[in-house]
Amino acid sequence: MNIAIIGSGYVGLVTGVCLAHIGHHVVCVDNDREKIKKLNAGKVPIYEPGLEEMILKYRRMKRLVFSGAIAVAVKKADVIFIAVGTPSKHNGDADLTYIENVAAEIARHMDGYKLLVEKSTVPAQTGNRIERTVRLNLSSKKGKPGHPAVEFDVASNPEFLREGSAIEDFMNPDRIVIGVESARAEKLLREVYKPLKARIVVTNLASAEMIKHAANSFLAAKISFINAVAQVCDRVGADVLKVAEGMGYDKRIGRAFLNAGIGYGGSCFPKDVDAFIRLADKSGYDFRLLKSVREVNEQQKASFIHLVEDKLWIIKGKTIAVWGLAFKANTDDMRRAASLDIIRVLQAEGARVQAYDPKAMLNARHELKNVKFCADAYAAVKAADCLLVLTEWDEFLKIDLVKVRGLMRQPVVFDGRNFFDKKVFTDHGFEYYGIGRGDVAQNTTGVMCAKK
Ligand code: UDX
Repeated sequence: MNIAIIGSGYVGLVTGVCLAHIGHHVVCVDNDREKIKKLNAGKVPIYEPGLEEMILKYRRMKRLVFSGAIAVAVKKADVIFIAVGTPSKHNGDADLTYIENVAAEIARHMDGYKLLVEKSTVPAQTGNRIERTVRLNLSSKKGKPGHPAVEFDVASNPEFLREGSAIEDFMNPDRIVIGVESARAEKLLREVYKPLKARIVVTNLASAEMIKHAANSFLAAKISFINAVAQVCDRVGADVLKVAEGMGYDKRIGRAFLNAGIGYGGSCFPKDVDAFIRLADKSGYDFRLLKSVREVNEQQKASFIHLVEDKLWIIKGKTIAVWGLAFKANTDDMRRAASLDIIRVLQAEGARVQAYDPKAMLNARHELKNVKFCADAYAAVKAADCLLVLTEWDEFLKIDLVKVRGLMRQPVVFDGRNFFDKKVFTDHGFEYYGIGRGDVAQNTTGVMCAKK
């Protein structure tokens, strides 16, 4: 099939290349000329395992094209995916300016039946608004007497791709959700995804949009739940890793997304939770459960900072080493990364920060001031008074702890991801603090203190 993807950001690129992989002819469009120029020169603007190789391969095979010309792409395509950004406004609402602009522009170039598919994360009822925008912009241009009517459908096909494993997630989805209002749209979308042989859930537009809201918010809720449990674990001397394991074997619960840490970040969960809360508010429902999910997530960073402040005693003038900056491993994405808030607060208290991340330092440089970015993990711990582990990169597991111990001024580690085996660190003479590992118990006066 001929497919156009409007918006060549993270979702657009991964979707485009994967659709080319399963046999379609794909044009990825973006109004950022520089980006298109780079993509055409084989330079991929984001880091995602496997993406660059696949882009090069399908460009060579001429199944994947990058273009700034939306008009040509729309005319050629049977199906048009809209994958433009939907950033958060100050009040938490999703800003749908790009969606509206693109819908209007597609409408102006349509010359025959098209299926428009919303792929970006959008609030429920956006599909109806796209439909109206297209209709209004069609009739303004093509409503003249004698002009043939242009038919179209709007569908919703939310993405569930995780950064770092997006290609794998696309190829082996747990399910594909398609929200449609006509049999023609359903048939076309089934055909798009036929090669994947995946389970397809067909529903109407509003329910598909709601599935995306509910699924992401539920996952965020799982994380906040285990983070809240971790807080209690610390106070009563329990180990959240064992608690999550014991809970996770129950099939009704499942072990996934029960990793306690410094809270969720990234381009999706924080934004999606905000948007769902706003949507519920506007519809007249006070979604207090979800508001607590957000609150626990913020508290998690604050309590990690508290722990560092408590154990380091005086922050001013101390050197703090940071391993990992990205919002999670296997990505260079710094959007809403917990590391940003944590580092900024410690800097404001007078700490010097020296950091290393295998992929995200380039992006981190735009966000963080006065951080010393280091060439490797060893350089980051040199003369440091403590080490914070903020992203769970596999390469940290191979590090020589004897060397690290020798380089640091004080052997104190705060593992914000419960990534390391505590015993490995303590055997090397480190003081180790994880999240909810029972390292911090409450004494009778209510003051938190380290357990011996
Ligand atoms: C998420 C959804 O998983 C995906 O389906 C959706 O389409 C886009 O948003 P992504 O943001 O790439 O994907 O990352 P994800 O792996 O879900 O992690 C999000 C955040 O939660 C990260 O900061 C991660 O570190 C954190 N997290 C995840 C935890 O703190 N604990 C967990 O158990 C899982």
